[in-house]
Amino acid sequence: MNISAIQGSLTDQVCDALIVNLFEGVTQPGGGTGAVDRALDGAITGMIKDEEFEGHLGDTLVVPTCGKLPVRKVVVVGLGKREDFDIRKIMRASAKAIRKCRDFKATTVCSILHGAGIGGIDPRDCAKAVALGTILGAYEYIRLKTENVKPNPISAFNIVEMSGEKLDSISCGIHSAQVLGDAITFTRDMANEPSNVVTPSYLAERAEEIARETGVECAVRDRAWIEQNGMGLLAAVARGSVVEPRFIEMRYTATGAKKTVAIVGKGITFDTGGYSLKSTDYMYGMKDDMSGAAAVLAAMRAVGREKPNVNVVALIPATENMIGPTAIHPGDVFKSYDGKTVEVNNTDAEGRLILSDAVAYARKLGVDEIIDAATLTGACGIALGRDMSGIFGTRDDLVENLIKAGKECGELMWRLPLYEDYREFLKSDVADLKNAGSREGAVINGALFIGSFVGDIPWAHIDLSSATVDNDTDLAKKGSTGAATGTILGYLLSQ
Ligand code: BES
Ligand code: MN
Ligand code: ZN
Repeated sequence: MNISAIQGSLTDQVCDALIVNLFEGVTQPGGGTGAVDRALDGAITGMIKDEEFEGHLGDTLVVPTCGKLPVRKVVVVGLGKREDFDIRKIMRASAKAIRKCRDFKATTVCSILHGAGIGGIDPRDCAKAVALGTILGAYEYIRLKTENVKPNPISAFNIVEMSGEKLDSISCGIHSAQVLGDAITFTRDMANEPSNVVTPSYLAERAEEIARETGVECAVRDRAWIEQNGMGLLAAVARGSVVEPRFIEMRYTATGAKKTVAIVGKGITFDTGGYSLKSTDYMYGMKDDMSGAAAVLAAMRAVGREKPNVNVVALIPATENMIGPTAIHPGDVFKSYDGKTVEVNNTDAEGRLILSDAVAYARKLGVDEIIDAATLTGACGIALGRDMSGIFGTRDDLVENLIKAGKECGELMWRLPLYEDYREFLKSDVADLKNAGSREGAVINGALFIGSFVGDIPWAHIDLSSATVDNDTDLAKKGSTGAATGTILGYLLSQ
């Protein structure tokens, strides 16, 4: 889909679909929507009067133009209440509108710039939200379908603006959305792929491909290296699988950067739970347990292309978590990369094991900040639902900047506490730590466990409860959402 900004009047556009908008409760639309309504002899206001359309967020109304405008159909999308308008709502409305256009097989679409200036959102951010919402709304994972597939028919999407002054800002916003949208799409594609495709070595091959394409460095380590170099926790989880593990390290070096940020992603390509086996219902879907790794790869790919002024190290511990003759047993004890001993009282708490070795490795590299993203606990989803992820951190400004970067691309995160007293739950009778604490406070326990390995390096941990959705939402089809990709990338690009 080619997205651009064009100067002109909405009513002059020649295309299949023209997207305009309406705030909830407005009976007499003004601006671009008003002009379109007049050209259609009040067809939109007519529908509002009949209460067929009230402007609820994401609701759409399709109006045929019957030759009164040079477009085939007008799509009016609801923006919800004017008072609580924000970036994410622009994205949601744009996503719903593009899906509607897709439904009637439009190939060329023009859109108004939804709500520029409202709620203090400038034209650049507004255009970024429209374009990103459009890219995400049009996304679908169809690679493995051979029948009844309808690929996205939309080839051109234009944001139409009358004033020439705003055009540069709009183009700039579109560019930024394309970078983010491309990265989020990469994550979605990878996390939606089944686990017989996305194996640890597949992740490594994609990392090497990114390195070749962008010039970032990449080192891939195998089982022998992991075992010989003391990554005892990653090695322990990997023991149960004949599919070979990988430890992936990528590096982007900027000229004149002031700091180095490590981004670490959980790369469990399938999580059976190990001998603390998951039940059928909970195991299904565990191909997405590498969503953190996918987000890190996607962010690194974009960093390699966009070249921000910050050094970035990407680390991905990747393995399956399986049962089998060589798999670890509950109660086994292993030595971590930083030397602490860990009793694995629950083999299903494998994410924190592999991440702890990775963050300890980052610490040894001497990075300035560590950000990890992981589908770490089911409990985070119970607490926050699928619309947002949990975020923890040892430094307020790091956490706040990540939350801000998330807000700017529609990814919601809610900060949860690293409550020290719960460390008690991670005490083992036989080793320095055990990997699973009580059910109560399970999200916090997981974060505290990883936090035991970061030392005093500023650290943030994202527990990805929003990595996938079980039903279609405004911004994502059922499956991967790509969450954390935009947050991490936006944060790095803003350095
Ligand atoms: N990958 C899961 C977490 C998960 C479960 C994410 C469901 C999304 C949906 C993780 O490895 C896991 O199994 N965590 C356990 C930890 C527990 C044993 C302390 C959990 O949350 O049940
Ligand atoms: Mn698990
Ligand atoms: Zn897991």
